[in-house]
Amino acid sequence: MSALPGSPEGTAVTGLDSSPVDASPETLAEVPPLPEQARVEAREIMARYPVARSALLPMLHLVQSYQGYVTPDGVTLCSEELGLTKAEVGAVATFYTMYKRRPTGRHLVSVCTNTLCAVLGGQRIMDALSADLGVHHDETTADGSITLEHAECLAACDYAPVVTVDYEFYDQQDVGSARELVAALRRGEKPLPSRGAPLTDFRGISRQLAGFEQHADPAAAVDAAGAYGPTLEGLRLAAERGESAPPMPATTRQEPPDRGEPRETVRPTGDTGETPGREAADARVAAADTPAEEAGAAGSHPDAPEPSGRSLADQDDGTSTPAGQEPGTESQAPGTGRVIDGGHAPKRKG
Ligand code: FES
Repeated sequence: MSALPGSPEGTAVTGLDSSPVDASPETLAEVPPLPEQARVEAREIMARYPVARSALLPMLHLVQSYQGYVTPDGVTLCSEELGLTKAEVGAVATFYTMYKRRPTGRHLVSVCTNTLCAVLGGQRIMDALSADLGVHHDETTADGSITLEHAECLAACDYAPVVTVDYEFYDQQDVGSARELVAALRRGEKPLPSRGAPLTDFRGISRQLAGFEQHADPAAAVDAAGAYGPTLEGLRLAAERGESAPPMPATTRQEPPDRGEPRETVRPTGDTGETPGREAADARVAAADTPAEEAGAAGSHPDAPEPSGRSLADQDDGTSTPAGQEPGTESQAPGTGRVIDGGHAPKRKG
């Protein structure tokens, strides 16, 4: 199904040989083209952010809502609209597990196999569903109904073992209940999650994650009531045993001094006759607000002298504590070996 690692299609799309999205002709033939409306909605998403490229994550969800995964067309749309390279878009799309690199089934079933869920049966659930469906992690059934994946902690350990369908929670599952759940999904049913929003499907939840209304009937979008028993179990046990947490130690919080509005960044003008690098370094020194910032900026200035008393033969990087000396004492202090205020101190402007 997927483009071979290193294939022209995959590499051209993502820029990452080892992480191509599926650009095989047979797959693309099955995927509906992105409608013009997708571009309109992408621009709507971009308008929500002061910096347009911040819209990339919801835009990738939008692509998935139309095409079921991050397609080459979707990568192109995002790169064109945001002024990014395809490699940059691909790098993001291949970093997060919520962005799929090959076509996803109608429902995405995620089984938590992380520590707590695993010891309470998560791995058994994963193995049973995998055997029933004839697919492994990140694979889709032949009828396109289910993509199965194992997931790392789904942040619901108190309800372990947890299964999610299209990111909605089905708590405290076992092999039998998970099998029933998946069978119902394959029959086209949408069992109510244990809590939270009603179930939609992978494309529907992708649309919601892109920030668009998905439920045509608002009355249908009623959250399932949560059962908070497991979450409150620790509290109940503590009350039963008469236990309570020790009071927090009083802290005296030091508020940072109010510096008011940040100073305008001093930028090199290019009319000082210095190299741009030197002028920029001067500007950083001039813009420093505190002695520490000034020392840092001066220390990285091209005119700052090389640390004295150091040579390649002297490999002491200052991080070891000499025998008989406490860390943090004067000769161990940061910058001891770096003279920044010598005869070539950088210029300070203004
Ligand atoms: S270990 Fe499964 S939800 Fe945390």
